[in-house]
Amino acid sequence: MDDLNQINMSRREVLIVSALSAGVAALPSTAVANSGLQSELHTPTNAKTSLVVNQKRYDIDLDTRTTLLDVLRDHLHLTGTKKGCDHGQCGACTVIVDGRRINSCLTLAVMNDGANVTTIEGLGTPDKLHPMQQAFVKHDGYQCGYCTPGQICSAVAVLDEIQQGKPSHVTANLTEKPLLSVDEIRERMSGNICRCGAYSNIIDAITEVAGGKV
Ligand code: FES
Ligand code: FES
Repeated sequence: MDDLNQINMSRREVLIVSALSAGVAALPSTAVANSGLQSELHTPTNAKTSLVVNQKRYDIDLDTRTTLLDVLRDHLHLTGTKKGCDHGQCGACTVIVDGRRINSCLTLAVMNDGANVTTIEGLGTPDKLHPMQQAFVKHDGYQCGYCTPGQICSAVAVLDEIQQGKPSHVTANLTEKPLLSVDEIRERMSGNICRCGAYSNIIDAITEVAGGKV
């Protein structure tokens, strides 16, 4: 009998490890239900999280599984940041965190506790647009506009990356500051998909702003 209990416990542990490494979807639903694993994985845990978003501090009690994107849109009602794929593949959710652009759908809010977040709402206002926003308007860098907040946040951070000398995949000489070139901008913006195909106008807008900066 003792041996049997040991075997049951081992099986349960194996299920937990398997689920965490391979995803619960890979397990038969009956196995998940029988193991009690479902309730363990779905029990919400809350944590206090502080974020400074567009220079305003927010202290939020959050389910630890909440992504930064969902906090911005659903908790802070900053809906300028868009949810496209929710899987890190389109760039619509790009925001700037502590000076670096990230896909906010790929990071949990609690992982960014204490961080400074800039969204499209924090770059400029309708009365006082950021130079990159002005350039996108001037060059028609959008059609439907769904990808545009992510494109603009990404573009602002791209110019900072070049200015700081960070190389990209197409930087030929790693011992020198990256050149400002269409190839560099295209490569660095390649994570931001535009389903309307406004790419050439987006490049024109970024190049114009870069001309006064890099
Ligand atoms: S919504 Fe985040 S990358 Fe698509
Ligand atoms: S402007 Fe429509 S997806 Fe880019």
